[in-house]
Amino acid sequence: NEGKLWGGRFAGGPSPELEALSRSTHFDWRLTPYDLAGSRAHANALHRSGLLTDADHAELLRGLDVLGERYASGELRPDFSDEDVHGALERLLIAEVGAEVGGRLRAGRSRNDQVATLFKMFLRDHGRSVAERVLDLVDALAVQAEAAGEAVMPGRTHLQHAQPVLLAHHLLAHAWPLLRDVDRFADWDRRVAADSPYGSGALAGQTLGLDPEAVATELGFTGSSGNSIDGTASRDFVAEFGFVCAMVGVDVSRLAEEVILWSTREFDFVTLHDSWSTGSSIMPQKKNPDIAELARGKAGRLIGNLSGLLATLKALPLAYNRDLQEDKEPVFDSVDTLEVLLPAFTGMVATLEFNTARMAELAPQGFSLATDIAEWLVREGTPFRVAHEVAGACVRVAEADGIELHELTDEQFAAISPALTPAVRQVLTVAGSVEARTGRGGTGPVQVAKQLTEVRERSSSL
Ligand code: ARG
Repeated sequence: NEGKLWGGRFAGGPSPELEALSRSTHFDWRLTPYDLAGSRAHANALHRSGLLTDADHAELLRGLDVLGERYASGELRPDFSDEDVHGALERLLIAEVGAEVGGRLRAGRSRNDQVATLFKMFLRDHGRSVAERVLDLVDALAVQAEAAGEAVMPGRTHLQHAQPVLLAHHLLAHAWPLLRDVDRFADWDRRVAADSPYGSGALAGQTLGLDPEAVATELGFTGSSGNSIDGTASRDFVAEFGFVCAMVGVDVSRLAEEVILWSTREFDFVTLHDSWSTGSSIMPQKKNPDIAELARGKAGRLIGNLSGLLATLKALPLAYNRDLQEDKEPVFDSVDTLEVLLPAFTGMVATLEFNTARMAELAPQGFSLATDIAEWLVREGTPFRVAHEVAGACVRVAEADGIELHELTDEQFAAISPALTPAVRQVLTVAGSVEARTGRGGTGPVQVAKQLTEVRERSSSL
């Protein structure tokens, strides 16, 4: 058991089969910078408590710095015999500063409080970087919304033509949930920051008079765990992070699906930029929305990471259990997935070219102005129940004649209801319809312009 963290009570070394199952360095090695930072803070705590001489303290810090530099240059590697990142780094530290000094660092800590702390640090850093990428996408949507001006499109419910809306309004409808996701990361971060597990030991806390609050501050936390069992055994912070990642994936996939539909010949609403679409190996004419499809597909993967993680956590008794080693790969994967997906997706969105003429042509079709007739009647004094009936009758007549609502004659309107004077035509244009929607959050151009400002303000305040 040479080089192991736990050899003392064992007569023989672990079987190769156990080692193969147990090993985690192939995925947890990326926690190295956080492990080294934690060790530095821990060395400082030991020193302050009088458990490390000035000389040993200085030597440990030197050794940790050397390991940090060698990690940064790519030279530092775990050994095949290392169980995890923590064991590997202790072995490498001892190789640098000797067993006498290097062997002092582990006092008063366990891999259980260590790994819970490091994992929080890793996720806090990556939560920030993923949130930045989400904000880039929000900015791309805002730029497209601004460029769309007062261009209109068919707004849909149930994927059927419902009411005309501004293209800008629709694009910004995708920005709001993304802003909430960024807010979720920030909110998650505040909670995680309050709870640095260092000092929890294996589960019961430590006896050495170390100051967990000082370690927490040094590691960028705002407080330390109030319960050492909770500090080492809880992974709700991982699940919550996984949820926010999955939610980003789901939000992005909704826009992805629309881009896929919009770029079909049948819709013909958008043209994808050549640099942000792909071809076919056999059909020379093909231009495919692969980025959007990958986004839609990766949402499934992000959901899977969250589901798998929750399944691992379900019904685990307190405190630390080795099952918890399974907590890292799913969220590492979620982070990696979003860090490669979001820049590509943002590039695709930023370079979409909208066929606004086609969208404008379709906007009034499918009797999408029927609600406007009903609301015009209400403004003229008709009760809504009656107005709804009358507007429905207009649709029935127009449909039977194979025409759109604005093509009904004055006589046809009058025959449907005397309340339908020719003045109703003022709302039978798409422009008239959208301009009438002046309430907050509505599709009226004035409101959409306000909304764009609001989205930009929120985006820059997050
Ligand atoms: N590598 C473990 C993990 O990622 C930490 C080690 C804790 N091991 C233990 N036997 N207590 O969860």
